[in-house]
Amino acid sequence: MADEPLVLGIETSCDETGVGIVRGHTLLADAVASSVDEHARFGGVVPEVASRAHLEAMVPTIQRALKEAGVAASDLDGIAVTAGPGLAGALLVGVSAAKAYAYALGKPLYGVNHLASHICVDQLEHGPLPEPTMALLVSGGHSSLLLAPDITGDVRPLGSTIDDAAGEAFDKVARVLGLGFPGGPAIDRAAREGDPAAIRFPRGLTGSRDPIYDFSFSGLKTAVARWIESKRREGVEVPVADVSASFQEAVVDVLTRKAIRACKDNGVDHLMIGGGVAANTRLRSLAQERCEDAGILLRVPRPKLCTDNGAMVAALGAEMVARGRPSSTWDLPADSSLQVTDVSVPGHTHDHGHGHGHDHVHELSKDNLYS
Ligand code: KG4
Ligand code: ZN
Repeated sequence: MADEPLVLGIETSCDETGVGIVRGHTLLADAVASSVDEHARFGGVVPEVASRAHLEAMVPTIQRALKEAGVAASDLDGIAVTAGPGLAGALLVGVSAAKAYAYALGKPLYGVNHLASHICVDQLEHGPLPEPTMALLVSGGHSSLLLAPDITGDVRPLGSTIDDAAGEAFDKVARVLGLGFPGGPAIDRAAREGDPAAIRFPRGLTGSRDPIYDFSFSGLKTAVARWIESKRREGVEVPVADVSASFQEAVVDVLTRKAIRACKDNGVDHLMIGGGVAANTRLRSLAQERCEDAGILLRVPRPKLCTDNGAMVAALGAEMVARGRPSSTWDLPADSSLQVTDVSVPGHTHDHGHGHGHDHVHELSKDNLYS
């Protein structure tokens, strides 16, 4: 439909420069430039390297997305950008670019939350999200169960990891196994040849007195590292495929068990899984199996929309425009530790009497452009 909002979204919270364009719930373009190869030799993302790569990739990636979508920048109804959480310097590149484009084009600016974007992206795959939405968000930096009565403004954490994020555990175990960085896809691949029941690794926080919706992966990571060490000490070759499959099974067993429990307890008949770890083959298949058994409808976007991208930011931006949510002011800050409950960021000088509707562009002054 032509009257659905046309929004461009910019994502730079980590090592992917993502620019997506959507019209309502329709994906028109999803351009991603990754600096992952530049970080691989360091075994993790180097913030300064990521920021510089974003700066170089930003304009070409925006141009590529516009071309792919076949739209002119002047046709856009708004520019959305990840305002946090993420790496401060990396976020700043995206926020600055979004401000520059929005101001030059006379379009409203929407600073949005990276985590809510990981949920909202599923609208591009499976249509409107039911309300409330139950979401399992599993990425390199976060692992949470979220209940969202309104994805543009009301996201409530039911539980989250008390130590490592799920993706972080994949990355750390992959490093011990010598599988390189990022670890998630490497373990996913290695596990295909392995036996998930070969080694019984611990399931964190699943005791009867443990918090029901919280996660813990640090004990698991240590157990896997100790197991590998003991084999190496004995001079036995480490069975990489079996360790990968058994570790992966421990993670996805706990994730799916707790997510389904959350759906049942809250009377929600569907489950959305988002974030980079949602690209995991075994998580997808076990979730499907267990959701079917429980009569729960599973919604997981295709793998490319699970890992960081700009389309997810555009998806949340378009939903905000469609619902007449206020846009952000020009002093919109990049907030590296933005809370999951802050779905959008209004900016410092936001005046609640203004800014409703997507044809409003905030006044710009020298005082509020730099914050
Ligand atoms: O959402 P994301 O792209 O970036 C963050 O916001 O963190 O998630 C990245 C994380 C990394 O830890 C990566 O190892 C993990 O997602 N990941 C996977 C897979 N693909 C990416 N983990 C397990 N299996 C995968 N196939
Ligand atoms: Zn992410």
